[in-house]
Amino acid sequence: MRPIAFTTLAAGLGLGLGAAALPGTAAAQGTLNLYCSVQIEWCQAAATNFQRDTGIRVNMTQRGSGETLAAIRAESQNPRGDVWFGGTGDPHLAAAEDNLTQAYESPNNANLQPWALTQWNQSGKRAVGVYAGAVGFGFNTELLARKNIAAPACWADLLEPRFKGEIQVANPNSSGTAYVIIATLVQLMGEEQGFDYLKKLHANINAYARSGTGPIKAVARGETGVSLSFVHDAVVEKNAGFPVAYATPCEGTGYEIGSMSIIRGARNLAQARRFYDWALTEAAQRLGYEASGQLQTPSNKSAPLPPNAPDLGQIKLVEYDFAKYGRAAERRRLIERWDREVGSLPR
Ligand code: F6P
Repeated sequence: MRPIAFTTLAAGLGLGLGAAALPGTAAAQGTLNLYCSVQIEWCQAAATNFQRDTGIRVNMTQRGSGETLAAIRAESQNPRGDVWFGGTGDPHLAAAEDNLTQAYESPNNANLQPWALTQWNQSGKRAVGVYAGAVGFGFNTELLARKNIAAPACWADLLEPRFKGEIQVANPNSSGTAYVIIATLVQLMGEEQGFDYLKKLHANINAYARSGTGPIKAVARGETGVSLSFVHDAVVEKNAGFPVAYATPCEGTGYEIGSMSIIRGARNLAQARRFYDWALTEAAQRLGYEASGQLQTPSNKSAPLPPNAPDLGQIKLVEYDFAKYGRAAERRRLIERWDREVGSLPR
């Protein structure tokens, strides 16, 4: 079932300062318009550290993966962003196919995990893997215990009446996470059964959030018992002190190759390439955890798996067909089908 060997360095290999200390003056090095689709803390840390390291002034905009793809598409005649950092891999592949991004080969490709380069090759050198993460269930242990609800272990469990009104997931129009979940179910069950499952699941959903991390934050706050999330985001909430745990589905699950692309027509191309090279370094990838507590699996071979981060090598993963589910038309078709047949159903 496993398509890719997920190997990372063992956690805790001498954690040092995130980025090399370079001259800090924001001299006339130009500007970078950064579109960012990881959590805001990481976006801010990336912007601040890159600016400090290079003197390039960064204007950062954080949005979900689907929202960023829509913005880049809408601006394609007059691009406002230079580089798109993070977010699930499928919309980066769709952007590449639709000629919204441009090819680039970083000298730092040599230091990346094979799965990061598979993404690069599949996208015609337009998107590269920055991190990876698996889908699973996040849950509030105290809330479930209080309600006497056993935690979910399998996709099948989520359809049970005990989860009526207890589950949150994001909306695939705005969130790349939600799209990965739909594509995962279609790959696990076949399309008809996958959509049948999503319709039944709808009865147990209390809200569709805008961003992929919205549901796990709602779990942390005790607003919902269970979320469908990337499991690294569940550990972020646990580390913040909330009663959150996670499980990965017994039937198998999907995963993301969180990616980075340079936008076609970028006005600040030299700065975009500089950021791209920088973001692939060990030091920059350590920042995800060290400066902002994020727990994805880094794509730089020297960057360690953060402490307590989910180990993808231990999770039962589906053979996620990125070439198929990253295709622009397939993505659009599945999201439209979800809107028509699932999102619009009464609950
Ligand atoms: O930053 C957390 C994260 O889960 C990433 O791993 C992922 O690429 C991104 O959020 C997806 O966000 P969204 O679902 O809002 O597009």
